[in-house]
Amino acid sequence: MEEKAVRRRVVLVPLPAQGHISPMMQLAKALHLKGFSITVAQIESNPLTVSDADDFPHFRFVTIPTSLPEPELKIVGLVEFLTKLNEICAVSFKECLSKLLQQQQGDDDGIPSCVIYDEYMYFSGAVSKELKIPSIVFSTTNATAFICRSAQGRNNTNEFLAPLREPGGQDKLVPGFHPLRYKDLPTSAFAPLESLMKLYANAAQKRTASAVIINTASCLESSSLSRLEQDLQAPVYPVGPLHMAASASCSLLEEDRSCIEWLNKQKPSSVIYISLGSLALMEHKDMMEMAWGLANSNQPFLWVIRPGSISGSEWAESLPEEFSRIVSERGHIVKWAPQKEVLSHSAVGCFWSHCGWNSTLESIGEGIPLICRPFSGDQKVNARYLDRIWRVGIQLEGELERGGVEKALRRLMVNEEGAAMKERALCLKEKLKASVKPGGTSHNALDELVSFIKTLQYK
Ligand code: UDX
Repeated sequence: MEEKAVRRRVVLVPLPAQGHISPMMQLAKALHLKGFSITVAQIESNPLTVSDADDFPHFRFVTIPTSLPEPELKIVGLVEFLTKLNEICAVSFKECLSKLLQQQQGDDDGIPSCVIYDEYMYFSGAVSKELKIPSIVFSTTNATAFICRSAQGRNNTNEFLAPLREPGGQDKLVPGFHPLRYKDLPTSAFAPLESLMKLYANAAQKRTASAVIINTASCLESSSLSRLEQDLQAPVYPVGPLHMAASASCSLLEEDRSCIEWLNKQKPSSVIYISLGSLALMEHKDMMEMAWGLANSNQPFLWVIRPGSISGSEWAESLPEEFSRIVSERGHIVKWAPQKEVLSHSAVGCFWSHCGWNSTLESIGEGIPLICRPFSGDQKVNARYLDRIWRVGIQLEGELERGGVEKALRRLMVNEEGAAMKERALCLKEKLKASVKPGGTSHNALDELVSFIKTLQYK
């Protein structure tokens, strides 16, 4: 008698933030297309909305109960929140995973092969080990930032901290990490250095996973990937950019589509798109310098101002009337945009970004050069690479000042220097497209990952 094909189930544990959920759901989609059944285990606070879950009808969603109320994130800050989350979630995740194992024993559609967890949800690794389910780490940042964090976590005493506190030390190159300077290392705007180093150390020390999946492509950072594999002594699968391999929409905020109609009326490659992602916060005075720099550049712009992202303002109400009058014909401001669609629109000429890794990949994946104004964490590594290694971005450093903003925008949008950056960005786009096609490096890495997961078993 013919044996019935058995699907293997993968349990995914995303970190509950937009920049982490999106790539995790893209990975889920890619694995589902390869024949795996998917369970997404989310913590109670900030889960995907029901309508988002409706976009993934073949997935199971389960909740990891926590006693952490969502406002806790706002009170203690992201780093403390994550540390706390890892302390308290282990027990409830163990119950949740045990229940899943019981339910799925003998279920043709459900033999769990492994748990894939966001690097910062390290409690999942420990629980999986206890229950004898293999686990794999998923990093939503790039390989270079991953190596930095591991090194910082290992040497939390002096090597990385001391130069940051010396006069002029911030501008020194970090030995072995060219072209990164100490100030480019992934430190956080959300927490004291010591708390962050503790989080990095925990993520590294509690890592029990048998492999690492990373949302990057080897054409972007092949030497960092080799170094990472050597450091970890475990297989590393660079399967990105995942949004190009398996699109999966899961916006936690409502997208304002009026901006697409507005873009339809603009000239090709003329618009500056501005967005600082889902977490970055901006001082009011920086917003004013940015606004006047934009106004003085005379270019049309589409600006995403996320509610609550400007200190002291609910939204954009503190922009002066004079500014609104001057830019009324060529500026459009929204609360949240369908970013990937915006970046693929022919009217967009450059992206002013905080350089979150998703935004970075989405921009170079469309051949759009960037104005880089990183805010926190890995964004500083990404900005330095965009400016110095891939040479498709201009990093704005120091005090934000309208003259400097206007000059940078002209360099990118009007000067020959900008045209050369655009050409390099288009070249990167082609390389990235090739990497996710059959025969490409990321495509191959995904196939290797699939074979690897098939060797894993719940014992
Ligand atoms: C954070 C970190 O900054 C990032 O580097 C890390 O890898 C994940 O966590 P975030 O700051 O939100 O993420 O930035 P980013 O990684 O760029 O992710 C933002 C996502 O929101 C992108 O996928 C982007 O397309 C989406 N977005 C942003 C929208 O859909 N609409 C918007 O208006 C703005």
